[in-house]
Amino acid sequence: MRIFSGIQPTGRKHLGNYIGAIAQYVSSQERGEGIFCVVDLHAITLPFDPAELRERSYDTIAILLAAGLDPARSTLFRQSDVPAHTELTWLLSSLTELGRLQRMHQFRDKSLAQRELVSAALLLYPVLQAADVLAYRAHEVPVGEDQREHLELMRDVARRFNSRYGDGEDVLVVPEHRISQVGARIMDLQDPTSKMSTSVGSEQGTVYVLDEPKAIEKKLKSAVTDSGSDVRRDPQKPGVSNLIEILAAVRGVGPEAIESELADARYGELKGAVAAAVVDYLAPVRERYDALRRDERALEAILAAGAERAEIRFGKRHIGRFGIVEQGPDFLLKSWCLRHGSPDGNKRHEESQRGPKAFPHGCPREFAARQPNSPLAPSIN
Ligand code: TRP
Repeated sequence: MRIFSGIQPTGRKHLGNYIGAIAQYVSSQERGEGIFCVVDLHAITLPFDPAELRERSYDTIAILLAAGLDPARSTLFRQSDVPAHTELTWLLSSLTELGRLQRMHQFRDKSLAQRELVSAALLLYPVLQAADVLAYRAHEVPVGEDQREHLELMRDVARRFNSRYGDGEDVLVVPEHRISQVGARIMDLQDPTSKMSTSVGSEQGTVYVLDEPKAIEKKLKSAVTDSGSDVRRDPQKPGVSNLIEILAAVRGVGPEAIESELADARYGELKGAVAAAVVDYLAPVRERYDALRRDERALEAILAAGAERAEIRFGKRHIGRFGIVEQGPDFLLKSWCLRHGSPDGNKRHEESQRGPKAFPHGCPREFAARQPNSPLAPSIN
């Protein structure tokens, strides 16, 4: 089974992201072949600063590695290093209803919040996301509840593609959504009726993966609790319920186990136990992160190897270090898009796949950054 997920290189990652997404990626490595992508091209759908985006991409890759994603087992790469994502986006856009894109909740929310420029890329965001997953014929997509609409669109596009161009074959895999139950329930510590979030949450109510142990302790010990004194989950007790869920998630047990263990405890003891457990859970990640993040050359080398491996998945090179490769979307380009074009174009395309590429791992950052109009060029202030 093939598992794909994408993670935005924006914002500081918090405990909800970690438990709900990152830890899920890590454990999915036991179930199948993981493909994890830092989606920098999704990040440019909103106004962005190029130098900043590059830094945040390193941050994100270092967090994924520190969490335990293993580049020897999983394919770990940066989206903009593999051009097939954008190529396939264009092809799939011809199969996507405009009206449906305009009605997507995320598009409506983000475009309303946007003061400056509502880009066409923001509208096409879900098509790029569909290309990400369909390109690799992934079977499963671990994401949060907020991605449900995007997944449905992706599934419909895959079905439409197969029925129009598949010649009776399921060329594209219709992927399954796998929503993590745990992470979805991690709430803001100061306002436990809303989800822990970087964009709307309070600083005090949000535990960041890279917070110092002291800060984590302080935030958890000043978490809002409820009236009463029983340590149990109850819709009337969102603060206490949240602390129980957090403790259960970081210990990898069910919330019932925590309730029976702490049946006689007071709120203060509950908070102390959660604080200690979260510090133990995140401290090693932060230490590994610090070491990894310092070495950007090493991070680039990992990303380059990941991009190469991802391209092998596209069938650009057929047999590589990673064994025999199935035909990927490159096959789609040949069999579908170019089917209508000139026979010469077809041949040229095939040859370009075989011949050496100018930049076998995509355009190197150093080169791209030198181009004056490149989104990768450092901003000039
Ligand atoms: N849109 C996703 C998010 O905001 C990120 C993403 C991009 C993604 N491409 C993906 C998630 C492909 C899963 C699969 O979280």
